[in-house]
Amino acid sequence: MIGLPHVASGKVRDIYELDDKHLLFVTSDRMSAFDVVMAEPIPDKGRVLTALTAFWLDQLAAVAPNHLVSTAVPPQVGTDGEDLEGRVMVVRKAEMLPIECIVRGYLSGSAWAEYQRTQTMHGQKLPAGLRQSEKLPEPVFTPSTKAAEGHDENISFDEAKRLAGAELAEEARRISLEAYQAAADLAAGRGIVIADTKFELGLIDGRLCICDEVLTPDSSRFWPADGWQPGTTPPSFDKQPLRDWLESTGWDKTPPPPALPADVVAATRQRYVEAYERITGRSFADWPGAGR
Ligand SMILES: Nc1ncnc2c1ncn2[C@@H]1O[C@H](COP(=O)(O)OP(=O)(O)O)[C@@H](O)[C@H]1O
Ligand SMILES: [Mg+2]
Repeated sequence: MIGLPHVASGKVRDIYELDDKHLLFVTSDRMSAFDVVMAEPIPDKGRVLTALTAFWLDQLAAVAPNHLVSTAVPPQVGTDGEDLEGRVMVVRKAEMLPIECIVRGYLSGSAWAEYQRTQTMHGQKLPAGLRQSEKLPEPVFTPSTKAAEGHDENISFDEAKRLAGAELAEEARRISLEAYQAAADLAAGRGIVIADTKFELGLIDGRLCICDEVLTPDSSRFWPADGWQPGTTPPSFDKQPLRDWLESTGWDKTPPPPALPADVVAATRQRYVEAYERITGRSFADWPGAGR
C-alpha cells in the first residue's frame, strides 16, 4: 500500500496527498471504451500517459508554467509490491479553474452533434456546410463545465468568463490555444492529427499553470493523418483496435464489458506505445519501468 492519505480516484488516476503543497498522481492501466471501464488493464498504459504528459509539459514550457515537479517515485512512498515506477507524477497542488479548457481544431464528438442541430459550436456560429471531422477555419477554445458527476456541459466563452472570472478565462484561452497549436504542429510533422484536446488549468502561487494530464490519448482525439477524411469518423489512433473488437462482439455497451482476449490487449498496448514513440521520437523502452 502507498502510505499516503488518499485524496481521490477517477476512472484512471489515484491521487494521494504527499504534503501540504504536493500531490502524488498514480496513473493506472485502467482502460475505458464507450465510457465503460474494461476488466483487464492495458499493460504500460499508465506509463505512456505519464511519459506523454511529461514530454508535452517540457515542450510547452514557453507557453505557460505547469504543475509537474517530478516523475520519480518519492522516497517517502511505501512501494512494497506496488508497480509505481514510471507512472507517478509529483505535482504542485493547484486551485483548479471550474472549467475544462477544450480546444478543437476539427469538428468532431459533441461539437459535431451540436453543429448538426444548430450550426453552432459551444453556442458560436460556424460556417454552413461543414462536414463531420472537417478541419475548422482556425482552432477554437470551446470550454465546458467541470461536472463533479455526470457529463460535462459545453458552454460559451461568456459563460466561462462568468464561471472563472473574465481575466482568468482570457488567460486560459490564450494558454490553451497556444498549447494546442504548438502540439498540433509537432504531431502533424509525425503523422498524427490532434483533432481536439482538453486542458485543465489551475492557479499555483497566483499564476495560471497547466495541470492534470496533457495531450494524451485519454484527454485528446488522436487520428492517424492518413486515416483522416472529412465526412467520415477517422479511426482513433489509440482505441480503434479495441473499439472494433468490442463492436464485433455485439456488446450493448453497458457494464459488464466482455473479457478482452490477449491479442486485443496486446494490440491496444502497442497503439499507446506507438503514439508515444511517434510523437516524441523516443523509444518507450527507455521510460522507467517500461515492459515490466
Ligand atoms: N495540480 C493539481 N492540483 C489539484 N488538482 C489537480 C491538479 N491537477 C489535476 N487536478 C485534478 O485532479 C483530478 C484528476 O483526476 P482524474 O483521475 O483525471 O479524474 P477525472 O475522472 O475527474 O478526470 C481532476 O479533478 C483534476 O482537475
Ligand atoms: Mg481526468
